[in-house]
Amino acid sequence: MKLWGGRFTKETNQLVHNFNASLSFDQKFYKQDIDGSIAHVTMLAATGIISENDKNIIIEGLKGIKNDIETGALEISEEHEDIHSFVEAHLIDRVGEPGKRLHTGRSRNDQVALDMKLYTRDEVENVNELLKNLLEVILRIMKENTKTFMPGFTHLQKAQPITVAHHFGAYFEMFKRDRGRLNDIYNRMNYCPLGSGALAGTTYPLDRDLTAKLLGFDGPTLNSMDSVADRDYLIEFLSAMSTIMMHLSRFSEEIIIWNSNEYSFIELDDAYSTGSSIMPQKKNPDIAELVRGKTGRVYGALMSLLTTMKGIPLAYNKDMQEDKELCFDAIDTTKGCISLFTGMIDTMSFNKSVMENSAKNGFTNATDAADYLVGKGVPFRDAHGIVGQLVLYCIDKNMALDDMTLDEFKAISPVFEEDIYEAISLRTCVEKRTTIGAPGAEAMEKVIAINEEYLRS
Ligand code: ARG
Repeated sequence: MKLWGGRFTKETNQLVHNFNASLSFDQKFYKQDIDGSIAHVTMLAATGIISENDKNIIIEGLKGIKNDIETGALEISEEHEDIHSFVEAHLIDRVGEPGKRLHTGRSRNDQVALDMKLYTRDEVENVNELLKNLLEVILRIMKENTKTFMPGFTHLQKAQPITVAHHFGAYFEMFKRDRGRLNDIYNRMNYCPLGSGALAGTTYPLDRDLTAKLLGFDGPTLNSMDSVADRDYLIEFLSAMSTIMMHLSRFSEEIIIWNSNEYSFIELDDAYSTGSSIMPQKKNPDIAELVRGKTGRVYGALMSLLTTMKGIPLAYNKDMQEDKELCFDAIDTTKGCISLFTGMIDTMSFNKSVMENSAKNGFTNATDAADYLVGKGVPFRDAHGIVGQLVLYCIDKNMALDDMTLDEFKAISPVFEEDIYEAISLRTCVEKRTTIGAPGAEAMEKVIAINEEYLRS
């Protein structure tokens, strides 16, 4: 059934129908469409626009349709243009005359604006919940590894020693900010467009506060043109998901590096890695690589929607139908990536001795040697130069700073004493870093407690 046959004298060309139709993808929000219609008719009856009796018949019919879609008794067939027409046509089939009153005071423009918002609002919460699970796993790993040493890098070169807790803690902060962004989006988007009509409201005495309340919104939107033309919340959500994917992708990249034969910092669980069809020795980090790879898809969706929206005059234009497929894909991709990534890091193990040895090599304690000299009164710039000479000497002899004898130290600077060994030991280098945000266990414990509290609230 078409919702707009009256002024037409010809059937729609089949290719036009196919090109125009959105049912193949907008059936994803059949539930939201029906929930929105139930709220709409509840309000229509409360304001006396339709009778209580019609309302009850319509709601029964809509619930029946929902139930039948869920059980598979009702198949969503392609001859309808979109989910809105599909539901309305089936309602009229089932309940007759009262069904024809459902669309009173409503347009598909405010209907689709509502459906997409309801669908997205749920998904914002779902993504938020998945991030919470990920944070729980990250925090567990942090708690267990405040003394698991590893090198920290800048320019992918060993820089200073840190711990696994500290490294994972960096990602904790990123995903925590991501959740903050989702909360902001939720609050900003949570206003109901229903009752905006095609673009200019309606002449019926609709109670928009009531429908907003029935559907869990903070209130109705305040401009009917904006209501049907606004896709900002989708752009914001795609942007937030792009940032989430960027974080997951950076983390994945590190996991891929750590999992390489050269690093061997971690061991991925067999259930979360894959083999090679030809090289029997291989155990590949495909999940991490796929997460890294899929990031492009989500960025692409953001660019695509921004580009679609940029030239659209007010109010509704059919271009906006393009928001759906790419948003659905980005949402499903992001959710899948967060879940898989969470499982992968939850099951992986750390080769602690390899990590610790790696942290000991590469002069990661050079800054601490300089700070030692500063502690003995040497100006930092001079200390930097002296330690530079030590490093050169060690490179030549193929040894670490810790391997030098006191005489060798003194030959470069007489300021060195026996306590240099303690000062530049790996443990000291990390443990002395006790300011909040630093890797020392004392500081980490405080951060872990704060983040534990954050996850409880
Ligand atoms: N399928 C359409 C969309 O996704 C629904 C709104 C149709 N409105 C209209 N005036 N043709 O945007």
